[in-house]
Amino acid sequence: MSTNRTLRVAVVGAGPAGIYAADILSKTDLDVSIDLFERLPAPFGLVRYGVAPDHPRIKQIIVALHKVLERGDIRLLANVDYGTDLKLDDLRQFYDAVIFSTGSIRDASLAIPGIELDGSYGAADFVSWYDGHPDVARTWPLEAQHVAVLGAGNVALDVARILAKHADDLLPTEIPANVYEQLKASPVTDVHVFARRGPAQVKFSPLELRELGHVPDVDVIVYPEDFDFDEGSMAAIHSSNQTKQVVKTLTDWTLKEPEENTASRRIHLHFLHKPVEVLGEDGKVVGLRTERTALNGDGNVTGTGELHDWPVQAVYRAVGYFGSPLVDIPFDDVAGVIPNREGRVVDVDGERVPGVYATGWIKRGPVGLIGHTKSDASETIRHLTEDAGDPTDPDNPFFTAADRDPEAVIDFLAQRDVDVIEWSGWQLLDAYERSLGEPHGRERVKLVPRDHMVSISLGRELAQD
Ligand SMILES: Cc1cc2nc3c(=O)[nH]c(=O)nc-3n(C[C@H](O)[C@H](O)[C@H](O)COP(=O)(O)OP(=O)(O)OC[C@H]3O[C@@H](n4cnc5c(N)ncnc54)[C@H](O)[C@@H]3O)c2cc1C
Ligand SMILES: NC(=O)c1ccc[n+]([C@@H]2O[C@H](COP(=O)([O-])OP(=O)(O)OC[C@H]3O[C@@H](n4cnc5c(N)ncnc54)[C@H](OP(=O)(O)O)[C@@H]3O)[C@@H](O)[C@H]2O)c1
Repeated sequence: MSTNRTLRVAVVGAGPAGIYAADILSKTDLDVSIDLFERLPAPFGLVRYGVAPDHPRIKQIIVALHKVLERGDIRLLANVDYGTDLKLDDLRQFYDAVIFSTGSIRDASLAIPGIELDGSYGAADFVSWYDGHPDVARTWPLEAQHVAVLGAGNVALDVARILAKHADDLLPTEIPANVYEQLKASPVTDVHVFARRGPAQVKFSPLELRELGHVPDVDVIVYPEDFDFDEGSMAAIHSSNQTKQVVKTLTDWTLKEPEENTASRRIHLHFLHKPVEVLGEDGKVVGLRTERTALNGDGNVTGTGELHDWPVQAVYRAVGYFGSPLVDIPFDDVAGVIPNREGRVVDVDGERVPGVYATGWIKRGPVGLIGHTKSDASETIRHLTEDAGDPTDPDNPFFTAADRDPEAVIDFLAQRDVDVIEWSGWQLLDAYERSLGEPHGRERVKLVPRDHMVSISLGRELAQD
């Protein structure tokens, strides 16, 4: 039993959930040493690689997360992939507890015929592309004039807006140069968003929806025949101010006269249309078939059998994200999360996995705003500190790590030739991205290729493309 009573904790995933968990843990009464692992060369998770580039106010959350990490009491170890560079047994050697906060990066599947056709895409992949994620293709096929977006959540709104927006209106943002150039060449004129339920059941946030009405040279078009409100809808409108605002915005748009629509691009919002098939020819998308649905009374819908075909050349499914399993960690294949009880990880039989915790989207599924990951992290840390018990008790079984020297994990990764990027490395990359933006009056321009990010962070010369 060690006499060093500093609790050693690894947090895996430097998105908001991981950073908040580390921050909250660092402020407890425990004497704690925290390492924050991240597979990407840069921290901040979906705040950097999910939040839309034209939402600078939300991107500013990075400033608050940055302040937590620059204090220096939480050590960032980026460019380290859990599962490849180290696994649970390795972490157990160096840490008493491990918190997984690995989020979600992939699309939920949608089992309809034709979904595998060329021209049918997942929203998560498109988001990763336009937000400059280093591990996705650098080019995106933007050849469609008419596009369908499936789903009625905020991701569907982001995707529809980025597709429809004129690239020059995105130029002041941090979008990478290749993203600007490809969006600039896009021939898109019409983006059709399909919600399978009614206007009172959409999951848009009021602010994000209203914003759609202010995109330059893009008209929002809704169809009065899609507006139906059953008892369930009325109950939702009366019980939720958000739903009331969303319905008001949508209903106001029904009052627009057709001649008011003069923009060169349009976003059409369709309700009560369930996608049933992506239509193809020669392996490529040529259309979308939807079935008209009818509200049941409780806000849910049933298909009416009435089919509509929409001539579109691309389909983006924005029907939710889905978590990915992690090596040696239990995984719930149905919910796409690490099974847990309020953050304490359990195995398939419901037994506790000692010393292992989860927080954020990988704990509770891919729903909720950045702020929600904070309350979520509080719950996980509360349980971890309860489990840690009394650090002065020499028989406390929670303090299991054999190798407690903070440098030991650095040596371990060096032996495996991992180019670990610490906070000073992120500072170099941050400064470099800002220097790319500065001559153009932009806050930053994102650097995309992973090897370039690593080179800059480690102070090496940039390799030529
Ligand atoms: C497209 C999109 C836009 C959004 N926009 C907004 C918005 O405008 N406002 C808002 O409030 N919320 C928004 N959200 C929601 C918000 O992004 C999430 O609530 C939040 O990011 C979840 O935090 P997280 O830390 O659990 O996951 P993430 O942010 O996904 O962070 C997980 C981190 O873990 C890392 N990781 C994964 N696997 C490993 C591994 N094996 N080893 C090491 N590291 C690993 C990832 O690289 C990532 O950095 C948006 C979500 C999406 C998908
Ligand atoms: N600006 C922002 O604040 C922002 C931006 C992006 C994301 N986010 C947040 O990130 C989280 C994830 O967003 P999200 O849009 O991925 O998820 P979401 O809010 O859960 O929305 C998913 C949408 O997909 C629909 N859907 C699911 N399965 C479907 C199917 N089989 N066929 C047709 N439609 C289907 C859902 O319809 P049903 O309701 O009928 O199931 C719903 O409209 C949310 O909490 C969101 O608020 C926030």
